[in-house]
Amino acid sequence: MQANFWDERYSASEYIYGEAPNTFFAGQLQKLKPGHIILPCDGEGRNGVYAATQGWTVSAFDQSTEGQKKALQLAAKKGVTISYDIADAAEVDYPANSADAVALIFAHLPPEPRAILLAKVLSWLKPGGRLILEAYNPAQLNNDTGGPKDVSMLYTEEILADSLKALHTEMLETLRLHIEEGTYHTGMSDVIRYVGVK
Ligand SMILES: C[S@@+](CC[C@H](N)C(=O)[O-])C[C@H]1O[C@@H](n2cnc3c(N)ncnc32)[C@H](O)[C@@H]1O
Repeated sequence: MQANFWDERYSASEYIYGEAPNTFFAGQLQKLKPGHIILPCDGEGRNGVYAATQGWTVSAFDQSTEGQKKALQLAAKKGVTISYDIADAAEVDYPANSADAVALIFAHLPPEPRAILLAKVLSWLKPGGRLILEAYNPAQLNNDTGGPKDVSMLYTEEILADSLKALHTEMLETLRLHIEEGTYHTGMSDVIRYVGVK
């Protein structure tokens, strides 16, 4: 989905996924010592801003300028600073071995840019760094509770196992749970959760 689709959604006055962080992301972050985190596709910034409140140095990016505006407003409201670039996931880059963590939270992309992004994530992580991911799996197509309706943009255990062989898998779960994240992610949801260490 293109930037203008997201710009239109994010031009609503409310935070469409809420101001609170994704629960899985927040729980995983609590287990780690703060360092540098990269948040691709950070949208309205709920996760990047939360990480900053926990002492992390945040490099976020997204293609949406409306998302960036709301993320920087949320950061100001919480009294923290984040770096938030406008960039395409297939083109953005950060130095190799520079991140203690990367979080992909509902970062749904078509297969080609997704593969490019996942390969970059592997390079950005420092040895010992962690990838934290939550996304919808194909069973979500049966729910009307959020996520893209294109199966090729949904995540499976096979996609993660194939793309992330360089990481040691700490957690890989496919599960159904109730999500309550603003207007667009609400209700019974089929997701995949992953944590891997470089
Ligand atoms: C479902 S939203 C999730 C936002 C945020 N991660 C969250 O959980 O609140 C997906 C985000 O991915 C971004 N996105 C999709 N394709 C992208 C691309 N190729 N490059 C950069 N951002 C992209 C969209 O602009 C949107 O903000």
